[in-house]
Amino acid sequence: MTHNLVYEDFWVCGIHIKEMKMNIALASDHAGYELKRGIIAYLKEKGIAHWDFGCDSEESVDYADYAEKAMNGILSGEHDRAILVCGSGLGMAIVANKFRGIRATPCTDGYLSEMSRRHNDSNCLTLGGRILPLDEALHIVDIWLETGYEGGRHQRRIDKISRIEEKNFKA
Ligand code: RB5
Repeated sequence: MTHNLVYEDFWVCGIHIKEMKMNIALASDHAGYELKRGIIAYLKEKGIAHWDFGCDSEESVDYADYAEKAMNGILSGEHDRAILVCGSGLGMAIVANKFRGIRATPCTDGYLSEMSRRHNDSNCLTLGGRILPLDEALHIVDIWLETGYEGGRHQRRIDKISRIEEKNFKA
């Protein structure tokens, strides 16, 4: 049996069963559309459950609309984590972090991706389609999908973020 944060492989009577542990919500604006397509192809290849909340072309749209759809997918419990792509990765992160319980982290390299999971328990990765080539983006995605959260002293800090949410968020 192999342990993996995304799925678990096990065999019953010689039959290989792959149980998904994670369902990813994806969204982009026009500037992130092409990179999102590359990420979706990669998730398909790896057999990772996902859903694309749009947009569906490179026609100009507003990133807030698509980030909101994907975040609602997480708040409804249908999706566990999200990957959002805009031009820089920044606008998507700003919107996503307006939702309770979302810890969106814009990552531009493997180190940030690893830390975002180990220390911040990131549940939303944001990427810049105008700054990252596909291979680098996939490297970041891979690390983000497979790195665990360390908990411990980091949980105390995340609990403080939750308390700030309680004070400042109405819903
Ligand atoms: C769109 O031009 C661009 O502003 C958007 O994709 C994003 O980078 C915003 O943060």
